[in-house]
Amino acid sequence: MKKIKIKQALVLICISLFALSCSKSDDEVEVIAGVPTAYSAVNLTDSGFTANWTRVYRADKYLVDVSTTADFSTLIPSYNELAVNALTLDISGLNAGATYYYRVRAVRGALISVYSNVIATEIISTGPEPTTALKEAANFKVGMIVRSTALTGQTSDIILREFDNITSEYEMKMDKMYPSKGTYDFTAVDKIVKYATDNKLNLHGHALIWHNATPDWVKNFTGTDAEFEIMVKEYITTVVTRYKGKVKSWDVVNEAVDDGSGNPLRNSVFKQKMGDDYIKKCYQWARAADPDCKLFYNDYNFASSTTKRAAIFKIADALKVDNLIDGLGAQMHISYKGPAASEIQAVVDGTVSRKLLMHFSELDIQANPDNDLKVLTPERAILQKNKYKEVVKIFNSIPTANQYALTVWGMRDSESWLLDFWGHIDWPLMYNNDYSVKKAHTGFLEGLK
Ligand code: G3I
Repeated sequence: MKKIKIKQALVLICISLFALSCSKSDDEVEVIAGVPTAYSAVNLTDSGFTANWTRVYRADKYLVDVSTTADFSTLIPSYNELAVNALTLDISGLNAGATYYYRVRAVRGALISVYSNVIATEIISTGPEPTTALKEAANFKVGMIVRSTALTGQTSDIILREFDNITSEYEMKMDKMYPSKGTYDFTAVDKIVKYATDNKLNLHGHALIWHNATPDWVKNFTGTDAEFEIMVKEYITTVVTRYKGKVKSWDVVNEAVDDGSGNPLRNSVFKQKMGDDYIKKCYQWARAADPDCKLFYNDYNFASSTTKRAAIFKIADALKVDNLIDGLGAQMHISYKGPAASEIQAVVDGTVSRKLLMHFSELDIQANPDNDLKVLTPERAILQKNKYKEVVKIFNSIPTANQYALTVWGMRDSESWLLDFWGHIDWPLMYNNDYSVKKAHTGFLEGLK
């Protein structure tokens, strides 16, 4: 009897010590009072996670429980009271895409804290992404931009494996094709046209008239307005005729709608010297040069601005009167935050209702629009993936007769124009710098299902 009493006393002491310890100051173990909070990256990845404990001093180890239910009625045996020394849990045994609940207790000697709060999270696989070729999975043309100086090596391998439509990123613009008065330079374009022809790729011409790619001699034209108009007609006729039958479509005019000034048309040198109907004249000349070429009008913020969307549709309606337009290009320089699916759908609906072809012509999706990241975190990669999936799903639902192509504006993140444009790091595209596919590429594939 006596022995048992001593034991009971000891147990009592332990319990009281333990109870005391929970409220003791720093010189004793101040074990968890139940507040481990995972970092902002609440999701776990294959490489484990680090939960940021608070109010824990000198804990020897932690006991972790992982469950598939919040009440911990379905404990995962290998994680039940798993003793871990660091604040990192190896979750390689758990399934990516599943949601798990975890709780911890801190331990020091014989002292064990109360349970922490429960944190639920889905495990994001950082394992290899599926590498299905996009053009094999899509029922529409999938496009990539090209440069005449990068039509070889892994860039070309990926283009030929995954894409069936190409757009020149910058070499089929006036400032490059017509650098000085009366002197054309088709060197780069001829290379791109040959690459497209040799590899049976659909080549989209971008862009005959664009205020941002107008050579200086045109911006500072020294002749009369009548001479200016003749020059523009000759330029469009020369270029479209040269590539007749090879360039299957042209953005005849790009970004003519003004942003926010209230004037529907940007005050470009073409508008100033040829009048508001410069747009119609350019499409007339392009149509005359190659009646079989699909003529597009292309612009940005088509989804995000209702004002701009209305102005673009007004241009399309005017050109349709004389059958001068075949399609609209929505550039789709967007971010994981927006525009909303409903706004993108409005672009599609307005285009389809006008019996025009839809080209999502320059898709890239910023993962870091607010410059709040220094690296692409797993959860931001997931958000970007979901946006790619959403955009592709919308395009995939367009009636086949109205689908022209979905073109992504760049291959590897490091090559994106956005990095210079915004001056901070971002990862807007579908391929890593080592050409491996990202979650964004998986999102594109999932949008096709
Ligand atoms: O590669 C040459 C390099 O060899 C040369 O030394 C250097 C200096 O002349 O130029 C380099 O080419 C530049 C190219 O980007 C590659 O960096 C061109 O000058 C420059 O004009 C070109 O800018 C392009 C820009 O349009 C203007 O044409 C961007 O690549 C291209 O992404 C951007 O794309 C536009 C779309 O056409 C229309 N929608 C908006 C979009 C982004 O601005």
